[in-house]
Amino acid sequence: MKQDFLYATAARSMALQIRTGVLKAGDRLPSIRTLCSEQGFSINTAKRIYLELEKQALIESRPQSGYFVSNRKQRRLPEPEPSSPMPVKNSGMPNQLISKVYATMGEKDLTLFSIGVPSDKLLPLSTLNREMTRAMRQLPGNGSSYEALQGNSRLRQAIARRSFFWGGRLSQEDIITTAGGMNALSFCMMAISRPGNTIAVESPVYPGILQLARSLGLRVLELPTHPETGIEIGALKKMIHRIDLCLLITNFGNPLGSLMPDAHKKELVRLLETHQIPLIEDDLYGDLYFGKSRPQCCKAYDRSGNVLLCSSVSKTLAPGYRVGWVAPGRFKEQLLNLKYVHSVSATAITQETVARFFENNRYDHHLRQLRHQLQLNRDRYTDAIASSFPGGTKISRPQGGLALWVALDPAIDTAVLYERAIRQKISIAPGRMFTLQDQYNHCMRLCIGLPWTDELERKLKQLGKITAALL
Ligand SMILES: Cc1ncc(COP(=O)(O)O)c(C=O)c1O
Repeated sequence: MKQDFLYATAARSMALQIRTGVLKAGDRLPSIRTLCSEQGFSINTAKRIYLELEKQALIESRPQSGYFVSNRKQRRLPEPEPSSPMPVKNSGMPNQLISKVYATMGEKDLTLFSIGVPSDKLLPLSTLNREMTRAMRQLPGNGSSYEALQGNSRLRQAIARRSFFWGGRLSQEDIITTAGGMNALSFCMMAISRPGNTIAVESPVYPGILQLARSLGLRVLELPTHPETGIEIGALKKMIHRIDLCLLITNFGNPLGSLMPDAHKKELVRLLETHQIPLIEDDLYGDLYFGKSRPQCCKAYDRSGNVLLCSSVSKTLAPGYRVGWVAPGRFKEQLLNLKYVHSVSATAITQETVARFFENNRYDHHLRQLRHQLQLNRDRYTDAIASSFPGGTKISRPQGGLALWVALDPAIDTAVLYERAIRQKISIAPGRMFTLQDQYNHCMRLCIGLPWTDELERKLKQLGKITAALL
């Protein structure tokens, strides 16, 4: 209790010194060791003081150099407007653009602002490696055998336990494992739609969802979406009679980062239930919240099994493991059948590895660190963009997730920006990738999952210069 008081008081007075200019941008702060020896703090208290100030983006730690007062700019950029896609025929998928951007995925000498995953430097790789060895030793045939159709029961049990955090009450019987989130989404779409049906989605939205819907012969209805609160329910209501199914990223959508408020989630679930329109809820980012607690899922309000909840560990733990799952509600039999027909079994070793990692609070410990880094990155990226991008730039302020959505001056075409930036070894995701319509040409998505370094800051500022040169 005494330590709590000490740390809060010290953090407050240091924050005041920064805000009133006693400590200036760029000033070096005493090391943790000095803070302890001169002020009599314990190491934990000293670390907590700096952690708190970092959370407020007042200070920053620089690897091997220590703690410094942040260079936060006074200029706060406005947020992009809510989107207003046309309820008309789509103009098509920019397949060439998408292929070009994704082709750079493995290139080591590029700064990949384009790819929406956390860097492996932010992942607990050595613990995962250890658990994978243990998993291999323990599984039948050292993990070489097929799994039960529904998937690894230890993993399903762990996922069911974690449903408590988003307001759910799942049991392991409600869950089917899949080869990543995309595989879960695709089984869901196949189970509940026929060619010619209309699927409603956010706009802008993750291109994989658009491509999947198109590959199944679905019509896509892009809904007006607010960067803070997600789809506009009023717009959905107006078009409800045209819709056969919905797919929404309710927590920290990709690319806008919007978070649907609980009241909207409740209303949405009721509305769709009344009209018997199934909802596929994509919750890949829900664990990456920057606020105090994990946001709920629509599935928490689902009483009739109308919501098919999909997730994976691709954004939090290991994208290459291909471990995902679905809680398909009343569509369980169809999903099991599709899994049997299309993949027989998910990968035994990686499922067991993740199941083991989920136990003993290791996942929560890792998530706390990852969220902290991502939140700091959101602020650092935002500051670097505010100080180096041309006037007219707008930027989202997500409360979680991995993406920033940047809207530039409408005169700038981000497909052209992509070409210019790639010559300087910087990759971005142009806005046109996130829609089937001719819109968002002046926007881009930047991933905040790369570890912050002086070099990364330099690259962001370089991107600002390349952008300014296009005006
Ligand atoms: C919203 C959304 N859904 C699904 C996926 C695919 O996830 P996975 O790698 O688990 O298949 C992604 C990946 O970027 C995503 O952003």
